[in-house]
Amino acid sequence: MSNNLIKISFSLNGNKVETEVSPQLTVLEMLRRNFRLTAAKEGCGKGECGACSVMLNDQPINSCLKLAATLKPGDRLVSVEGFNEDPLMKNIQEAYVEEGAVQCGFCIPGMTMASYHLLKHNAKPDEHAIKQALSGNICRCTGYRKIEAAVKKAAERTKANE
Ligand code: FES
Ligand code: FES
Repeated sequence: MSNNLIKISFSLNGNKVETEVSPQLTVLEMLRRNFRLTAAKEGCGKGECGACSVMLNDQPINSCLKLAATLKPGDRLVSVEGFNEDPLMKNIQEAYVEEGAVQCGFCIPGMTMASYHLLKHNAKPDEHAIKQALSGNICRCTGYRKIEAAVKKAAERTKANE
């Protein structure tokens, strides 16, 4: 291994992991190259589109902006793949499909992550709260209305199942 590589350890999708990264590698690149986790997408690469969203310590971040080398032991990184068994995320994903909110799909991992963070903290969001929560995520296809309807539906379904 080259001397330029930095060894890091953290929790990824609930498992303790170790890997080596170059100083410039972003969390997004690390997920895709080192762990073959490809749900988070690179859209703008500049923190503007939200396609690369992942959760770090329960907060959504743009993984294209964070250097992997800054991850510390104790950090909890969760990509969309880490939500496969989560009932709230399942409701969100199903509502997106039912409302026709998925077209090309490129923005969807980031959109569902933002939706998840909203509904985790606000079980009954109004239209303003939904728009606000999704404001960091760009969709080129849907015009947002179907996505907003999907978030509303997921909120209603999650509440009904409680
Ligand atoms: S790719 Fe990260 S915000 Fe657009
Ligand atoms: S569904 Fe295509 S960018 Fe959102």
